[in-house]
Amino acid sequence: MDFLELVKKRQSTRKYDTSRQVEPEKLQNIVEAARMAPSACNAQPWHFIVVDEPELKNKVADAASARLLGMSHFTKQAPVHILIVEEKVNFTSGIGGMVKDKHFAYVDIGIAAAHICYAAEAQGLGSCILGWFNESKVRKLLNIPENKRVLLDIVIGYPAEGLRNKKRKPAEEVISYNSYPQ
Ligand SMILES: Cc1cc2nc3c(=O)[nH]c(=O)nc-3n(C[C@H](O)[C@H](O)[C@H](O)COP(=O)(O)O)c2cc1C
Repeated sequence: MDFLELVKKRQSTRKYDTSRQVEPEKLQNIVEAARMAPSACNAQPWHFIVVDEPELKNKVADAASARLLGMSHFTKQAPVHILIVEEKVNFTSGIGGMVKDKHFAYVDIGIAAAHICYAAEAQGLGSCILGWFNESKVRKLLNIPENKRVLLDIVIGYPAEGLRNKKRKPAEEVISYNSYPQ
């Protein structure tokens, strides 16, 4: 599939087909795509935890469910969650980040998250990145040390909803050539 077509098709899936599991080969391709993501100074400041054991997955899903706010109630429908734990950057990325006052690990993990979502989409799967979840509950469930940040939870499964129209700012507002808009 053409890449732009893939970009147009990817959306945050918030309704999943609970009767379908994700095939292990597809899951393997997804995490491999994440592992191949670029990162500042090739620091690879991440650890990916694939949660596909149903009982544990449901507990993680509960920690990511926010019914009160009317969002993230779909987390239990998805058969797989991939948690991204932030790891230490290497020396060069750390120094570079300090000098330039940029937290490269956040950028790196964002790119890895995109790789996960597009690898899912390319194989007919839906995904949704979650930043809103109970981090300390997730840490406990997955034996993640308390000093580590769990930045994202990405839910994956077969979608049970059609394609929505994309709501995006107009191109003129977010893109300019050769100068910041004056
Ligand atoms: C860093 C990040 C955190 C997000 N957190 C959540 C979340 O906690 N719950 C949720 O339902 N969607 C979450 N989203 C999905 C966004 O709401 C979604 O990408 C955006 O509205 C654009 O819609 P689309 O992905 O369908 O194109 C998150 C996306 C990103 C990139």
